[in-house]
Amino acid sequence: MRTLYSNIKQILQIEHIHEEKKIVKGLDMKTLPTFENAFLLVEDGLIKDFGEMKNLTNELIADQTIDCTGKMILPTWVDSHTHLVYSHTRELEFVDRINGLSYEEIAQRGGGILNSAKRMTEINENDLYEISKIRLDETIALGTGAIEIKSGYGLSTEGELKMLRVIKRLKENTNIDIKASFLAAHTYPLAYRENHAAYIQLIIDEMLPLVAKENLADYMDVFCEKGFFSPDETDQLLEAGYKYGLKPKIHANQLYNSGGVQVGVKHQAISVDHLETMDDEEVNCLLNSNTIPTLLPGAAFFLAMHYQPARKLIDAGLPVALASDYNPGSCPSANMNFILSLACTQMKMTPEEAIHACTLNGAAALELTDTLGSIKIGKKANFILTKPISSYALLPYYYGNNLIEEVVIG
Ligand code: NIG
Ligand code: FE
Repeated sequence: MRTLYSNIKQILQIEHIHEEKKIVKGLDMKTLPTFENAFLLVEDGLIKDFGEMKNLTNELIADQTIDCTGKMILPTWVDSHTHLVYSHTRELEFVDRINGLSYEEIAQRGGGILNSAKRMTEINENDLYEISKIRLDETIALGTGAIEIKSGYGLSTEGELKMLRVIKRLKENTNIDIKASFLAAHTYPLAYRENHAAYIQLIIDEMLPLVAKENLADYMDVFCEKGFFSPDETDQLLEAGYKYGLKPKIHANQLYNSGGVQVGVKHQAISVDHLETMDDEEVNCLLNSNTIPTLLPGAAFFLAMHYQPARKLIDAGLPVALASDYNPGSCPSANMNFILSLACTQMKMTPEEAIHACTLNGAAALELTDTLGSIKIGKKANFILTKPISSYALLPYYYGNNLIEEVVIG
């Protein structure tokens, strides 16, 4: 089956066949490679060809042609950090925060992640799958064409396995790529509050072998933060994860400069995520690594915290990826279009930088650049077809409005 998209106003984030783009860093993020007045040919789910309309020849005859006058095409968003599998929303805590409690205070009195963990015990695996599948499909309709999903609301062997099995079932029943991260170290369950070592031992001795045996996870995540898991505890957990082939992708520096970036880099984490609090020391540490700083402005927005210092990182020459952090506590939205707007309005990223961060660099943060993240011959035909738009800056500009006409997956 060959489908030709013709008269496309502009194709964004193109990559030529001889290029091997793995990530875009620093100043390079300012330039977005595009083609104007273009065509795109899709065959059997892959990008077969693209180019300028004037080079469209008869050999490119297709089974169907879709006229895209005035519209643009860009790769689907890659959302490299979510907690999409959860049982219940937490809007009552949201109201508590409006009335003056902080996110940390809510967590300390047994709400927050512990609240979600309690609700996780009350839902069976099938129901958890069904609600998660609805959320996943809604997310894809918003333009997301690959996603990472974490466990972390189980906090027990049974609960963590339930979540990871649901993620595995989602993988088997969707046509987008899903990567799973094992996040038992999200917080200490109540029973282990005074005995951290015992919970860490439970993760290492009991959970990890089972997760590996059923091949349920791609990555190892830890919430490295004051009041959660210390750098030493994170160190121990990442070391153990490696023994089972799980590379680290961790939560770091959300609330404090808690050493998360340093321990992530030490273990060659694929990414360190959040990064609301960053000093020069953390920036320098990242500069000497291949670890990708991943910013989650949706969490800063929803918790009314200060935003991540995107300019500081990019101007230092680093790459930046953007992700939603979709979860019931700190960011109940998986809308990457809104993340794009937040990046531009609140973190002063240019539209070009933000589009790189939501596509190619997001794919890098999931080790998917061979097949996703840019419009390149041979890559998967996962792309967004916009409504007619005046320029691509409209995508972050017109926040809250839906500019997507169609999300094409394959
Ligand atoms: O990335 N910070 C830790 N974990 C999630 C929030 C989890 C929750 O509140 O349920 C985050 O923001
Ligand atoms: Fe998170």
